[in-house]
Amino acid sequence: MQRIPVQAASASYEVLVGAGLLRSAAESIAPIAEGRRLFVVVDQNVLPHHGAALEAALTKFDVTMLPVELGEQRKRLSTVEDLAQRMHRAGADRSAVVVAFGGGVAGDVGGFVAASYMRGVDVIQIPTTLLSQVDASVGGKTGVNLASGKNLVGAFHQPRLVLMDPELVLSLPARDYRAGLYEVIKHGIIRDAALLAFMSQYRGAALQRDPAALERMVADSVRIKAAVVADDEREGGLRRILNYGHTLGHALEAETQHSRLLHGEAVGWGMVAAGRLAESLGLLHPDDRASIERLILDYGEIPSLSDLHAEAIADHVAGDKKTIGGTTNFVLAEHAGKVRIVQNPPHESVVRAAHDALAAYAAVPGAATSA
Ligand SMILES: NC(=O)c1ccc[n+]([C@@H]2O[C@H](COP(=O)([O-])OP(=O)(O)OC[C@H]3O[C@@H](n4cnc5c(N)ncnc54)[C@H](O)[C@@H]3O)[C@@H](O)[C@H]2O)c1
Ligand SMILES: [Zn+2]
Repeated sequence: MQRIPVQAASASYEVLVGAGLLRSAAESIAPIAEGRRLFVVVDQNVLPHHGAALEAALTKFDVTMLPVELGEQRKRLSTVEDLAQRMHRAGADRSAVVVAFGGGVAGDVGGFVAASYMRGVDVIQIPTTLLSQVDASVGGKTGVNLASGKNLVGAFHQPRLVLMDPELVLSLPARDYRAGLYEVIKHGIIRDAALLAFMSQYRGAALQRDPAALERMVADSVRIKAAVVADDEREGGLRRILNYGHTLGHALEAETQHSRLLHGEAVGWGMVAAGRLAESLGLLHPDDRASIERLILDYGEIPSLSDLHAEAIADHVAGDKKTIGGTTNFVLAEHAGKVRIVQNPPHESVVRAAHDALAAYAAVPGAATSA
């Protein structure tokens, strides 16, 4: 088992990474949970796969299971209210410990319930998707969507402990799994050329969920995220680099009404576009751009984007800018493992980058046919 410390300004905690960790969860949870009640916010899709194992692991504690239907549509304040109400009816007081068990949605919703219930109770994150292990469950961002946009209501609330058992992702649907791999590639590009080389060399093992590859991807991602969050918990500066590929990725998600692509897939596309933009601005050598792009595209096709227009996607970037004080911060690569922030690149360059990324994906075998 690997123990990775996270030292954020508001709290320090450990992320534990190891295959089979769920089975021995009691031991790691005991110092926090002894004599307290656990309220497990659990994605009901996850229950059939891992519910019994979790309950078996927690038998020595006083556990109240709160199964809940989740998914991006249910990441709303109404779900938070429902869970808080269920906790109160079950007698939860300020000493309650919330356990968020599921993917990024369970983590964000469970984390926000914990941040707000009686003005804040402890939360333990046990992420069950690759995306939530390599990204969402570390760093303390919690929250929900509004009808008008994603993640608009929330709080920073660091967990007391994060338990990561890479075996849990073996039951994930293939597409959700692959979407998480793009966030691993992101970590490599922003901070860790060795991780990026690993993703290139061991693509087969990564795609096949080989245990050693899983542990490496999860642990390295956590270390990178922990280092960034330690420096900048609230995204005043350095933490922005975690948004690599996200500015154009979010624009693509908006243009497709958040219905066609998984978040990680949109980030994969956004990283291709960011590479093109960096090259056109003279920041990234064409050979480096090409090899990073090849690596991303080799992780497979995404749903067809052939009906989309680069101009419309770039307009979403320009639209977002109005809401954040007139500045668009693009994270752009200088080489593998090193990025910098560039503010307000020319609109035409953004359009061209979006165009080139659409064209790059259109050329991936099978891209146009898989929806
Ligand atoms: N807080 C953060 O810092 C942060 C960072 C990145 C993403 N996020 C958020 O994370 C969310 C996306 O997370 P996600 O991709 O994990 O989505 P998700 O939680 O919706 O999970 C994806 C799907 O997999 C199912 N599932 C979960 N674990 C499973 C398992 N072990 N076996 C089988 N099925 C399983 C879920 O029910 C769901 O259908 C978004 O809402 C995003 O905003 C938050
Ligand atoms: Zn992301």
